[in-house]
Amino acid sequence: MVVPETQDKMYYPPEDLQRDAHVPDFNSYLALYRKSLDNPEAFWKDIADEFFWKKPATGPMLQYNFDVTKGSIYVKCMEGAKTNMCYNVLDRHVREGNLGDKVAYYWEGNSPDRHETITYRQLLSQVCRCANVLKQMGVKKGDRVSIYLPMIPELVYTMLACARIGAIHSVVFAGFSSESLCERIMDAQSSVLVTADGVFRGEKLINLKQIADEALQKCREKDSCSVTKCVVVKHHVLRTRSGAACNKLQTPWDAEYDVWWDEAMTDSPEECEPEWLDAEDPLFILYTSGSTGKPKGVLHAVAGYLLYTSLTFKYVFDHHHDDVFWCTADIGWITGHSYITYGPLANGATSVLFEGIPVHPHVGRFWEIIEKYRVSKFYTAPTAIRLLMKYGREPLQKYDLSSLRILGTVGEPINPEAWQWYHEAVGQGRCPVVDTFWQTETGGHVLAPLPAATPLKPGSATFPFFGVEPTILNEHGEELEGEAEGYLVFRRPWPGIMRSVYRNHERFENTYFKKFPGFYVTGDGCRRDKDGYYWITGRIDDMLNVSGHLMSTAEVEAALAQHPSVAEAAAVSRPHTVKGECLYCFVTLKDSREFNRTLEEELKRLVREKIGPIATPDFIQNAPALPKTRSGKIMRRILRQIARNDHDLGDLSTLADPKVVEVLFSQRREAAA
Ligand code: WTA
Repeated sequence: MVVPETQDKMYYPPEDLQRDAHVPDFNSYLALYRKSLDNPEAFWKDIADEFFWKKPATGPMLQYNFDVTKGSIYVKCMEGAKTNMCYNVLDRHVREGNLGDKVAYYWEGNSPDRHETITYRQLLSQVCRCANVLKQMGVKKGDRVSIYLPMIPELVYTMLACARIGAIHSVVFAGFSSESLCERIMDAQSSVLVTADGVFRGEKLINLKQIADEALQKCREKDSCSVTKCVVVKHHVLRTRSGAACNKLQTPWDAEYDVWWDEAMTDSPEECEPEWLDAEDPLFILYTSGSTGKPKGVLHAVAGYLLYTSLTFKYVFDHHHDDVFWCTADIGWITGHSYITYGPLANGATSVLFEGIPVHPHVGRFWEIIEKYRVSKFYTAPTAIRLLMKYGREPLQKYDLSSLRILGTVGEPINPEAWQWYHEAVGQGRCPVVDTFWQTETGGHVLAPLPAATPLKPGSATFPFFGVEPTILNEHGEELEGEAEGYLVFRRPWPGIMRSVYRNHERFENTYFKKFPGFYVTGDGCRRDKDGYYWITGRIDDMLNVSGHLMSTAEVEAALAQHPSVAEAAAVSRPHTVKGECLYCFVTLKDSREFNRTLEEELKRLVREKIGPIATPDFIQNAPALPKTRSGKIMRRILRQIARNDHDLGDLSTLADPKVVEVLFSQRREAAA
């Protein structure tokens, strides 16, 4: 890697940003990057020195085996050290750093008249009280707590309370269905579930407690249910807002299990000694879609995740004390875990915690919030940018966006048009756009520019972060040099990489390490250009990225196949102007069943119920038969082409019955179902 000299259109870092940046130019980046690879021990030791360790490490900063042919895969960071995540992200600032009165979060509700300011001291006190509530319920180190909450402060309190007492949190995005929640509770064997009575998402009221109850009921039907207590937060809005929707909301109650959050918290003490954990003890589980359909419990460990989220936050967003940072993700996804909860708090940062959606009550909501809190660093997803682009520049012009200094994006490749609009219309041409590539599994950014150091090419996540060594392989596992395209893999671990799939280490090894021994396989395709820039080309497995959310086609197919009329189903992705990709499904019906609108609606509802609204298919096509190879394997490539109306099918000789393709083309759906 050298300082890039190129003909491509580049965007260079603004000088005012470079003046006080942590990494002020490309040569500084290169020097630090080299150090992180050549001397990882010294590099990570310097970072660790900023944090509190109850006991120092006895082992090296990183130890690992990345090669399945040489034994079990493992990664260990700072073995022997004792610490506590919650102490590091809260007590350290309040007790040692004099940041007690600094704002940790500006909470902004779904409706603009709801907001709250939470200082570090207040946060610490709420977290300790919640930790004591959990302890009182018998939650101990290593126990799992499932959290099914909207974007309210109690979500952060509960996560940090778990971290404080050494319990492992498993946050389940509150848009998931009862079936998905049940599956995640059963896999984690959680003893407590924390939820809320309900929430407004835009104008829509969602009865979370009812969904949670259904999930627990399903757990009981399938197995014995591990949950012994369900803590219910009374949502602020529902407490005060009357009206038809709220009055209809009944909170089902079972006095044996259910506990109101407020009642439990009232007498709970504000002091709670942190549990001193081993560096490698688990911090949390977060489920992510797996290509077999069953979600994987991605497991992260305390020390490595602390070092990595904290460092990526500091450098990729060039964090300074007076910044106001806003990541618009939901904490139900990894982006929220790493860049709303842990990374910002580890740096003593001030963040916006936003409950609402970008278009409620008006399409300028994001810009209004940026003005209101003088947001300086703003982090969102391409799908949100594309959605807001549709409304043009007018909604932006009503607000003062001069506080913005850095813009970030994550979740999927950003198309050049969206990049330009983000840079010009939102960033007024003066804010670098950091395109951050990473995964639930990687814990934090692995490919990303540094805003004051890296010249940008729109659409490229540019270069590796410190400690990360990417390479590109062809399908034979051979490493490709220079300009190349193939599988994106990493040759060695960094502190924040996942440690295992919860209760299934074998699945961890098979999913990420088996295909190319010696490497962590991301599952993404990637191109390296002549200047060494990395460009993610999208998933190369049967995964789909809808609005930045990864899901597996197998999961959707399994849901469709549960309908009594469906004999077989296949789901593929089709490009979508706002969501990036959307679901196009083919269903073969059982004999004598009729394909009609009612069936279509039933199928969509089924997927929503089984997985959640984000997985609702946009298109459902009747398929008298599916294109299959002679050995009976569905040829998804062909289905993808039919979905896109791409007739350039190439070699069809492996198909058992090529006529199927013509029939499917003739019955293609153009308009969304
Ligand atoms: C995709 C989200 C291109 C990629 C943090 C990855 C991206 C998957 C980018 C992980 C990006 C994420 N450019 N593609 N900047 N960021 N992806 O686990 O396919 O929800 O493997 O983590 O999103 O999704 P996950």
